[in-house]
Amino acid sequence: MFVNLVMEFRKFNFNLEVKMRKKVIAGNWKMNNDINESQNLVSGIINGLGNDDKCDVIVCPPFTSLNDVNSLIKETQVKLGAQNMYFEESGAYTGEISANMLKAVGCEYVILGHSERRTIFNEIDETINKKIIKATESVLKVIFCIGETLSQREKGTTNDVVRLQLIKGLQDVSEVDLKNIIIAYEPVWAIGTGKTATPEQAQDVHSFIRNLIKENYSSEAAEGIIIQYGGSVNPDNAAELLSQKDIDGALVGGACLKADSFLSIIASV
Ligand code: PGA
Repeated sequence: MFVNLVMEFRKFNFNLEVKMRKKVIAGNWKMNNDINESQNLVSGIINGLGNDDKCDVIVCPPFTSLNDVNSLIKETQVKLGAQNMYFEESGAYTGEISANMLKAVGCEYVILGHSERRTIFNEIDETINKKIIKATESVLKVIFCIGETLSQREKGTTNDVVRLQLIKGLQDVSEVDLKNIIIAYEPVWAIGTGKTATPEQAQDVHSFIRNLIKENYSSEAAEGIIIQYGGSVNPDNAAELLSQKDIDGALVGGACLKADSFLSIIASV
């Protein structure tokens, strides 16, 4: 009897935890929008959001707009993220921005390991790992991107690629720090191409990632971690993607550059 009760309680608790994963919709503005355009876009988002807080909303403008966007989102539910940072604290690193600088300008999040950083700017897993460690030490939350290229998917190596990126990126990251990390699964072939992974394809990889977290950390960590999908998410495909069991949100590029389409993705939650 007692054992049954304990089992029931565990099941209840577990379901509660699963349900408690709040969806997170983030907009990655990439190299778009000067200060004026950024102010217009974020104002449109704030006005359209109202008081609805069914999901967390993050905007990631370019560095030059962070300060002005931050002024506009104060007192709202919208949170601020940057698109990159360097792992050193200060010094002779021309062109780089530190975690503390991002925090001082109001950032709560930073995107790290985006495939454009990996391919265009030659960022390797070891560098991304150093950045993740620095960000978490500095109490910045991380949106950590991983994902396979088209040829890797065609060769059937998606899971191997994702596993390696995840393990290397999270090396020496403690379970406590993992609580401040969102994983964004972004198949490279789906980014900016209009080709989205089907909900089933995305769900498969998301559940694989959650399992990896379970193997390398714990069931609790796996159930708690937010795993976003990214890659041509738009108002038409968002609802189906977001209804998958292991898809906890979206990292949106192209479709976040217009307030209306970003808002309808948020509404589909
Ligand atoms: P996309 O970009 O939505 O334009 O495909 C997503 C991303 O790169 O984060």
